[in-house]
Amino acid sequence: MNYRVATNIYLREGVMNRTRALATGLLLAGALLTQGCGKEAPPPPPAPKAGIPPPLPEIVVKIGHAGPLTGGIAHLGKDNENGVRLALDEANAKGITIDGKKIKFELIGEDDEAKPDKGPIVAQKFVDAKVAGVVGHLNSGVSIPASSVYNQAGIPVISGAATNPMLTEQGFKVAFRTVGRDDQQGPAVASYLAAEFKPKTVAVIDDATAYGSGLANEVERTLKAAGIKVLPREKGTDQTRDWKAVLTKIRGKKPDAIFYGGMDATGGPLLKQGRELGINVVFSFGDGACTEEMNKLAGDAAEGLICSQAGLPVQAANKRFLDAYKAKFNADPILYSPFTYDAANLLIEAMKKANSVEPAKYLPELAKISYEGATGKIEFDEKGDRKDAEMTIFTMKAGKLEPLAIIKSGKTIKYEDFVKGGAAAAASPAAPAPAAAAPVEDKKGDKK
Ligand code: ALA
Repeated sequence: MNYRVATNIYLREGVMNRTRALATGLLLAGALLTQGCGKEAPPPPPAPKAGIPPPLPEIVVKIGHAGPLTGGIAHLGKDNENGVRLALDEANAKGITIDGKKIKFELIGEDDEAKPDKGPIVAQKFVDAKVAGVVGHLNSGVSIPASSVYNQAGIPVISGAATNPMLTEQGFKVAFRTVGRDDQQGPAVASYLAAEFKPKTVAVIDDATAYGSGLANEVERTLKAAGIKVLPREKGTDQTRDWKAVLTKIRGKKPDAIFYGGMDATGGPLLKQGRELGINVVFSFGDGACTEEMNKLAGDAAEGLICSQAGLPVQAANKRFLDAYKAKFNADPILYSPFTYDAANLLIEAMKKANSVEPAKYLPELAKISYEGATGKIEFDEKGDRKDAEMTIFTMKAGKLEPLAIIKSGKTIKYEDFVKGGAAAAASPAAPAPAAAAPVEDKKGDKK
């Protein structure tokens, strides 16, 4: 109630009411005084009944997650954060005991805005908050600079999305990833493109980030090794939305295929404008632009695109995860949330094995873990990379990303056979190697 209203009420009311109000006020003040002075002691806790052990002490263990929660790729950052939230909520619901204490996991979510200079700032924030472990970051360009802060503080960090090899090539014992690397992904998508579309000349474009340019380099290397001509590299940034000048230049050189290293927020407009400019060749992308967001951004132009992910497709994650995600967030996972879900569970599992939530104590357990996650069996090599990571090739069909092939341990297998036969089939020596990948489906007819 503001002053003027209070005054009006006071003036309208008679002396009788004023007296009553005064008496009520005095009574209330008295009651508050009694409480404030703590005259009445709180009731004692109930004495433990014979045979029932006293409740375990509870400690809060903070887990950080960082990714872009604002900006053009916020949908991917939120998807990744959801994966971690689901894992921690499930652990809390189950009730985890470590070293005789009941553990309550608390998620500290930070927005790194996909900006490389925010990586170390967010990492320092986590260090100051005394997190026990971190899942993130999403972008390689942010993960790499952040990783030295985690390394100095000795805090384990697992990315479920960053694919640039540099992340785990720095020799940091604390850094891991649950996805594959771009020196696996680049050759996989480039080999598929070469085998399926048989281009003579390919235009390669990137967004000048660590991820985009690194992946484009891997693709270029593989194409050249297959005897395919690659046009001089064209570049934008991770903010470029107008690609017309770049595309007009490329159109003049008449490539047979285009590869773009970058995220969907920039890849969608690139594809749309490419088609508008009459470039009717196949467009291909890496994981950052391998999402159904491409339909929203490019419309019909997204149909027939080729893209890769550095892991198994979302729909191949285990059903328990898929159902739990859907029930909790009323949406399907987008890209890498199964991998961040696994990353969070790996931290918890290592803590359980070490019987400690202290980073220095559980880190050795994490390094040698063998864990059956939502994305399959996870073990790390000596660098912190996922052993035997799968690569998946997709196409966009009727507005849906359709997995075409899985590449694992140097073998390519049709996705439908992978689903039928499981991982055992993927490792079959009968499957052709990626460099000689047989077309999974004859695309020649509808080559754009
Ligand atoms: N794989 C992408 C990156 O490393 C998301 O940035």
